[in-house]
This record gives sequence, C-alpha cells and structure tokens, in this order.
Amino acid sequence: MFYPRVLVTGADGLIGQALVRRLADWPEADVLATGLDDTRRHASGSGGYVPLDITQTGALEQLFVDFAPSVVVHLAALSKVEDCEADKEAAWALNVDAMAHLARACKRHGARLLFLSTDFLFDGTDGPYAEDDRPNPVNAYGRSKLAAENAIRLSGLTHWSIVRTSLVFGEGERLKRRNFATLLAALLNRDGTFLAATDQYRTPTYAPDLADGLMRIIRFDRDGVYHIAGRERLTVYDFARQMATAFGFEAEQIEPTTTAELHPGAPRPLDGGLLILRAESELRYRPRPLADALAHLAPRLGVPIPANS
Ligand SMILES: NC(=O)c1ccc[n+]([C@@H]2O[C@H](COP(=O)([O-])OP(=O)(O)OC[C@H]3O[C@@H](n4cnc5c(N)ncnc54)[C@H](OP(=O)(O)O)[C@@H]3O)[C@@H](O)[C@H]2O)c1
Repeated sequence: MFYPRVLVTGADGLIGQALVRRLADWPEADVLATGLDDTRRHASGSGGYVPLDITQTGALEQLFVDFAPSVVVHLAALSKVEDCEADKEAAWALNVDAMAHLARACKRHGARLLFLSTDFLFDGTDGPYAEDDRPNPVNAYGRSKLAAENAIRLSGLTHWSIVRTSLVFGEGERLKRRNFATLLAALLNRDGTFLAATDQYRTPTYAPDLADGLMRIIRFDRDGVYHIAGRERLTVYDFARQMATAFGFEAEQIEPTTTAELHPGAPRPLDGGLLILRAESELRYRPRPLADALAHLAPRLGVPIPANS
C-alpha cells in the first residue's frame, strides 16, 4: 500500500480546490493544503491547512521539516497573463525563483515535485502540441513557465513531473480569480453579451478532470512531462457558444472578435491546444466530453439564473 504525504501550494485557487477535493477520495493520502490566507477558503478535502507564502523560504523549509511531504504539487503562481506582462519581475520572482527554491527543497528532503505548466509555452503556429514539441513562448507568462520547467530539469531532482494544461474552467469557493466559466456567466448575466476570439484554438480543460489526471500521476508515481487537458480542440469563440447554451443563455449572445483586439497587452498563441495521447495511454486519463463537463458544471455554478432572482 502506498501512503503519500501530499503538500499542495496555491491550494485555494481553481485547480488547487479541485485537486484537494479529488484527493479526499484517496483515504491513504495525507494531504496538507497551503495558501496565502490565514484560514482555508474552501471546505472541501479531508486534510489539514496551513498558510504558506511560497516566497518565504524559511517558512517553506520549516514546513518540509514539520510535514515531511513525499510529494509536492506546486500550483501557486502569478497566472494572469496580463499581470505577468505588466510586472515581469514579479512574475519571475514567483513563477521561477520561488519555484527553483522549492525544487531544491524537494531534492534535499527527498520529495517528488509535480509542477503545473501551460500550453502558453508554445508559439501557436502549429498546434495542437505534443510533449516533445519545441516550446517558444510568446508572452512573459509563458516565458516564466518555460524557465521554471528548465529549472526543474536542471535541479538534480530524481522524481519530478511537469503537467501542461490548457484553459481550465470550473468552480470553487471564494475564488479570487475568475475563470472562463465564471467570467462568461457573470458577463452574460450583467451585460447580455460576451466577446470571444474566433482565431484562437485551445483544448479547454474541466478542473475536476485535470485533478483526476494529477492524482493519477501521484498514484502511478510517474516522472516526466504530461499534457493533461480536454480532448476537444476548438476556438475560444466556439467554446463560449457551447458554454453559453449549456448555461441556459443563447449562443448568439457570444460576439466574435480577434485575440489581438481582446488582449492588446499580451500576445497569445493562436493555433494552440495540447495532445493528450501520452496521458491517455500511460495514466488511463479519460477527460469527459466537453458537453458532459458543461452539463456537470452548470448546476454547480447556479446557472441558468432564474429570471425573477
Ligand atoms: N487556469 C488555467 O487555465 C491554467 C492553465 C495552465 C496552467 N495553469 C497553472 O496552474 C496553476 C494553478 O492555476 P489556477 O488556475 O488554480 O490559478 P489560481 O486560481 O490563480 O491559483 C493560484 C493560487 O496561487 C496562490 N498564490 C499566489 N501567490 C502565492 C504565494 N506567493 N504563495 C502561495 N500561494 C500563492 C493564489 O492565491 P490567491 O488566491 O490568494 O491569489 C492562488 O490561490 C498555476 O501554476 C497556473 O499557472 C493554469
């Protein structure tokens, strides 16, 4: 029997909450969630919680001594693309330097590191991308994630995995950052319209499916790079139309635009998305069809909103 001690950084975010919830189904796993707040933001999960700012190296070191993790799932990051572009130094300090320190701590304490990376590592000229395709990021967020991946490869760690994912959507409790689903529902409710890019291809990923893939990496003790995303590749515009319909709105409420118009501050890869064959064959990862994911999510988000509310 395998009894992992799993430390999760950034556990109050979208993916962190989904992962902590998923790990609760694995009774042998001892899970410690960490985040910036003094107390945990969400009720899900059966493990403990302690506050941890991962830039505080002394506190991080003490946590390795106190909890002795066998696996660290590193989710804490500056993940807003525009914020990374606006403050490249802050993005580098959190996404690269703090991560490199964490990798060294994992090495010293003999823990496996599982790091979350992105499809924004690629330039979007020839998607969808496989694990061995050549990265060539087009924005500061992507460059910081590539540098973090390289720091892991050079860290001397024996056991590490890098999971790249794409356009993650879902729900959580008191999330500070909106994701595609919560933003779309909020804007359609408020303005009646939502702008979406017709020239950007992604493989949207439902957070609980990603969490399942992450758990499989831990359970199967897998090293290396895995793409864990949805199986369907489509434009952000088509994705928004499908989501709108599933949430009880009209597809016509989604207005077409271009990526450059929508995001003038930071370029995005256009012909993007991830191939997930490796995760499907080696991890038996099976993301649900997009329509099923949206049908699962809608009631959890409370959409459609009743007309008289
Ligand atoms: N969502 C996606 O589409 C996507 C796609 C590819 C890769 N990823 C990667 O997946 C990871 C998790 O993403 P997510 O969508 O769950 O993002 P998120 O909701 O923004 O979660 C990141 C979490 O990190 C926390 N954090 C920020 N600075 C910290 C610090 N110094 N110390 C400790 N925690 C800190 C944030 O705290 P606050 O909540 O208090 O701000 C937040 O809870 C990130 O590495 C991201 O780059 C995400």
